[in-house]
Amino acid sequence: MAIVHLPASALYSHPSLARLWKEVHLNCSPFYQRPAVRRLYTQPATVLRALLRHAPYNFVALGCAEGLKESLLLRKLPKPTLLLTADTCLSMAKIAARKLPARAKIARQIDLASPSSISRILMPPNSHSKTKAPRPPRLITLFGVLPNLDPLPLLRCLAKNMARKDLLLFSTNLAPGKNGRRGALRVLPQYNNPQTIRWLRAVFQRTHPKVTRGSLHFGVYRDTTQSSLSRIEARWIAGNKPTHTLFSSRRPTLSQVESWIQTSGLTCIHQWIDPKGEEGIWLTNRKA
Ligand SMILES: C[S@@+](CC[C@H](N)C(=O)[O-])C[C@H]1O[C@@H](n2cnc3c(N)ncnc32)[C@H](O)[C@@H]1O
Repeated sequence: MAIVHLPASALYSHPSLARLWKEVHLNCSPFYQRPAVRRLYTQPATVLRALLRHAPYNFVALGCAEGLKESLLLRKLPKPTLLLTADTCLSMAKIAARKLPARAKIARQIDLASPSSISRILMPPNSHSKTKAPRPPRLITLFGVLPNLDPLPLLRCLAKNMARKDLLLFSTNLAPGKNGRRGALRVLPQYNNPQTIRWLRAVFQRTHPKVTRGSLHFGVYRDTTQSSLSRIEARWIAGNKPTHTLFSSRRPTLSQVESWIQTSGLTCIHQWIDPKGEEGIWLTNRKA
């Protein structure tokens, strides 16, 4: 029987699940454990300030949760004119909008797995305003989302919806080293902890309330759409057989991220990689 893959949005589909994810993040994430990973989210500020040149800009935070990483970055940037926070979990996007600084703010629900949902958020229908003032450039952030979603269609779709002057700053987890599988196996123990297990069991109970037996197993597998890409999966095992993939975190190598950028119609302006090679952040714009 084929393994059923839960969509990433199911992991955050109720405020109680979002709270459990937050607990995982606070207790287990390298972002809290290692200052070098936190620094990744402030380092782009110098390059961004030079590119934005004190001119007005809009800030779009995609898959932002409560906007923690964006707040680190925005502390070092001029206040944006307009802030748009968007996440599958609207309650988290609203918290992010309250927290982050901007002259005007909007919070929206978005499905980053759906091209039409992305277009609705990034290319809103022309307003009826009579002024034809050009829109300021946008700084679009996408932090911590690429591991959960199919990366190539998402990056392609974002590139298509970007104007020439827009900037996309995205982060992703990495498989340290040159060999994806070996690198993913090295970071695998980071996932097998009581908080992550509690969160994923709660996800399974909410989505499959009738299934009472089974256990969680963490392993490294090939990505279904890109076989050279390794991904860490949490699988539900019942009767010795995997029945569901509850969670997956893609772990590309550096060269795989570079090829995603190339093939998505983006150009890399700058990249910052954590010293252990487990996470990186890329500043890109649309190819001319
Ligand atoms: C691993 S968390 C990262 C959150 C935050 N950006 C960070 O880096 O700490 C993934 C985020 O993506 C959101 N998300 C997952 N699937 C989504 C989807 N299909 N559309 C929009 N947001 C999604 C989740 O609600 C969550 O906020």
